[in-house]
Amino acid sequence: MIRKLTMAAALLAAGLFGATESVNASTLGQGNHPDSVWVRARNQKPTDGMYLEYSVDGRTWNKVCQGYKVLSSDFGEWGAQKKMYYPVLSVENGKVRCEFAVSPKIHQIARTETEDLWLWKPQDYPVLSQEAFAAKMAQLKADSLKAVRVAYSVLNNLEKKMEAHRYRARQERDNMRGDDAKFKDLDSVRYELTVDMTQKKAISPMLFGIFFEDINYAADGGLYAELVQNRDFEYNKNDAGKWTAKTSWSLQGDGTDWSIRTEQPLHANNPHYSHLEVKAPGAQLANEGWDGIALEDGKKYRLSMFLRGKGKVKVRLTNKEGATLAMTTFSASSKWTQQKTVLKVSGSAADGRLVVEPVEAGQYDLDMVSLFPVDTYKGRENGLRRDLAEKLANLRPQFVRFPGGCMSHGNGIDNIYHWQATVGELWERQPDFNIWHYHQTRGLGFYEYFQFCEDIGAEPLPVLSAGVPCQNSSRGGHGQQGGIPWEAGRYTYNGKPLTMASYLQELLDLIEWANGDAATSKLAALRAKAGHPKPFNLKYLGIGNEDLLGDVFNERFDYLNEGVKKAHPEITVVGTVGPFWEGSDYEYGWQHAAEKNLSIVDEHYYNPVGWYLHNQDFYDKYKREGTKVYLGEWASKGNLLENALAEALHINGLERNGDVVCMSSYAPLLAKEGHTQWNPDMIYFNNTEVKPTPNYYVQMMAGQNAGDEYVYAESKFTAKGRETADAALRVSHSVTLDKETGDLIIKLVNALPQSTVMPLTINGGGAWTRATVTTLTGHSVTDREVAAPVTEEMSTVPASVVLPPYSYRVLRLKR
Ligand code: AHR
Repeated sequence: MIRKLTMAAALLAAGLFGATESVNASTLGQGNHPDSVWVRARNQKPTDGMYLEYSVDGRTWNKVCQGYKVLSSDFGEWGAQKKMYYPVLSVENGKVRCEFAVSPKIHQIARTETEDLWLWKPQDYPVLSQEAFAAKMAQLKADSLKAVRVAYSVLNNLEKKMEAHRYRARQERDNMRGDDAKFKDLDSVRYELTVDMTQKKAISPMLFGIFFEDINYAADGGLYAELVQNRDFEYNKNDAGKWTAKTSWSLQGDGTDWSIRTEQPLHANNPHYSHLEVKAPGAQLANEGWDGIALEDGKKYRLSMFLRGKGKVKVRLTNKEGATLAMTTFSASSKWTQQKTVLKVSGSAADGRLVVEPVEAGQYDLDMVSLFPVDTYKGRENGLRRDLAEKLANLRPQFVRFPGGCMSHGNGIDNIYHWQATVGELWERQPDFNIWHYHQTRGLGFYEYFQFCEDIGAEPLPVLSAGVPCQNSSRGGHGQQGGIPWEAGRYTYNGKPLTMASYLQELLDLIEWANGDAATSKLAALRAKAGHPKPFNLKYLGIGNEDLLGDVFNERFDYLNEGVKKAHPEITVVGTVGPFWEGSDYEYGWQHAAEKNLSIVDEHYYNPVGWYLHNQDFYDKYKREGTKVYLGEWASKGNLLENALAEALHINGLERNGDVVCMSSYAPLLAKEGHTQWNPDMIYFNNTEVKPTPNYYVQMMAGQNAGDEYVYAESKFTAKGRETADAALRVSHSVTLDKETGDLIIKLVNALPQSTVMPLTINGGGAWTRATVTTLTGHSVTDREVAAPVTEEMSTVPASVVLPPYSYRVLRLKR
């Protein structure tokens, strides 16, 4: 019976699936295939995403590309929380639309559309009333086998795209770990480099910067030099499930009751403090810092605390066993009073404690108990850990992005970062939980970030939310939860309604605070009061961080961008194009950037070594005019020498495209051992050590040897043996000129297990008489630790340079 069906009957049968419209396309190149086919959406489990089935006759259904996933839900928290129920296709205005439920209970429906079944628009999630949701669910269930008619060429092209995707996935699995064996017979490897000094182009003088995010304890417990953890007694379960106002503190001994109180606090933004009711002295309240407090023999420490009560307290710095290394006594008075002193420590302790011990019976209130090394970076009070800050300064960054990352747009609308909560007196700042599951004291706030930028000669690049929280938020919604409302409603900030208008004002206030005249502007006067009368000269403002670029985002971004541009045309706004180097957010983000004529957009990607090996021409394919790229977060997935070399190859591509890519920053930057939420990172540290990775050294060499003109050079790779095409992918160069010094800088990667001989010819441009050569290398591509790069001086410029195996080498030629 089925076999006898005619096409018309098949179409009639297909009508059962509810399709009424079709997408037209060329009928050429179809072979013996029909003009069009039926396509329907399928998904096995809510976490699986959607695959497609096609049918010619509406009866026999086959999986498209063996069930390749064409669409996933973007709604909900990370990973398995993102769910899809009953995806159904329909056709609207010549495009295929997909709707699906994101949960049987949440009254939102996901919507997206596509022209080719491959690239789907960033999803939107309209909120429905209970009745509308029930009706929609019933409809989706009823329509779950509904098919749409699409041109056969759409299916054919989709299969080609899927195949190309599989091919690229295979390339991404490439790496260098088997290279010793793979290139065993490679011999006589040469890379002839001929530099043409007459062929140059200007490139960005800001190509290398740093991305600072408070992730992995990068701020509190990290770069911010405070040694007392939970100094403000503001830790709570929002920070991390088990944390309380007492976390990191403990009371030892008898005769004292310890409680956390909130009556008449030091400041409304800092409502909790410790109350000690001492019946008989002897008990001690001790703080263990972050994994202990590191104290160094002979060094000085600034101790301060707010005290209220009657009587005296001893404050001691001790080692873990309780031996006193320094001590002072403070007297409490009836009002909150800040007590301060500088203590010199006798004896070192990697795991020290700060101990407060009332010496008389009575009642004591304590808050903002703080200990800083005097020896911070540039000696600033409330400053930065010198060893870490010096490592950052050594990268010679031309800009610093802060405070994130996902930390900026936050975990839910209530957790969006408000810059003004981070300035002013420390006890007035508003602490908050961190999307990475710990606490932000905000002691390292916008003033300190700007000051650090100035201290290291880098442009500040604050990146703030576009009025939407992180799309993977787990609080106050389900990942996607819309954005800051247009009208006053559910959300408040600082006791006032939080609306898009008030949020735009925050961005405008930031510009005024940073750049205004302290004599005429109240906000700028606050900056002056904090210690910086001169403007900070802010030039860039990032709006948005790899968001989901649906309508909720676009409307808010456009509003903020236009608002900032109107009030401050001198500020360059940096937009965002999502978290990946391809896909919906990337494609639609770039389309949006072109439509709105954005100056710069922020790209992010964390890709494996194979991606970098096979995409060295990534930016060679970009348009030369129009919106520029800030590669705001990037890294290869690992801290081995192979990762660092893959990144060095990419850096050569960035410089070659420095007319299109104007800034770049590796991410994340810092990670405290034992407290990492993200790996790999550029610099690992604990309380006493800083451990740069191979990736760090590559960034450092690039940053210290940045140029501002790209000089074209021809290269010719030759070698004897097998696999020479793959070998050629592992050697690359970039030649730039640094106008300031006049130096010619040649960056060279040899990611092969053999030395590569590089005959060097420089045509034009006069004579180069001497050189410095800096080399990073290791024994194996799997080295996790490598020696710091070594610099040698050469009194002549050699006609031929040997590139050691697995090396990154920078030649700096001088007149
Ligand atoms: O760099 C770590 C995280 O990666 C950032 O917070 C976020 O923007 C990206 O997903």
